[in-house]
Amino acid sequence: MTHTKQEFMPAAETPLPKIAPSILTADFGHLAAQIEGAEEAGAELFHLDVMDGNFVPNISFGPSIVAAVRQATALPLHVHLMVEEPERYVKMFADAGSDCIIVHYEATQHPYRAVQAVKEQDKEVGLALNPGTPLVVLEPFLAELDVMLVLSVNPGFGGQAYIPGTTERLGRLKEMRDAVNPACLLEVDGGVKADNIAEVGAAGADIVVVGSAVYNGQPIKDNLAALRGER
Ligand code: DX5
Ligand code: ZN
Repeated sequence: MTHTKQEFMPAAETPLPKIAPSILTADFGHLAAQIEGAEEAGAELFHLDVMDGNFVPNISFGPSIVAAVRQATALPLHVHLMVEEPERYVKMFADAGSDCIIVHYEATQHPYRAVQAVKEQDKEVGLALNPGTPLVVLEPFLAELDVMLVLSVNPGFGGQAYIPGTTERLGRLKEMRDAVNPACLLEVDGGVKADNIAEVGAAGADIVVVGSAVYNGQPIKDNLAALRGER
């Protein structure tokens, strides 16, 4: 079944997806205030992008920042491990206060073992797919997942443009999810802005990760209001 653009035009009744601010572009010199500001402005969860400089060409932060964010908010923390062989670090990030740990299918020879390692820590588990990875690889995992993270940019940096083909990919993923595990949340990560959030939500995203459209030096309250279409 081919999806045409108008199928993803936001119908009036389609609720906007939850917004998960990514702290990647936040002001780390005032991180607690940046977290509190987003929570006060209505953020419902946070997304923490961990990068090791190997799996992705950037280095961001480790478990100590997750622990600091844990101290600053009681909201759910989705920790996106963009690291090689993430199974090595799952307990460390679980102990730091993650609520959901998201590992990349492409980051390990044993993705199923990595998913099991998260579940053994009694945490919610997510599997992330890069833009070039076919959805078919999900088949062995979908029934086990709490979250499916779809990268809509090449991972590693904030401020990139949304890859348009992601919208059609989301529609197919939603069909797969609805058939196998309706409780699994679809989360989209990268390039989501006020001008495409409704399209991404209408295509099936339950959660959108937003970095540079939340943390960009402008008032966080205004940025979140713009994303919700209130400005
Ligand atoms: C990519 C990062 C970014 C970030 C969102 O590796 O994961 O997608 O979370 O950044 P923006 O919203 O600026 O694209
Ligand atoms: Zn992410």
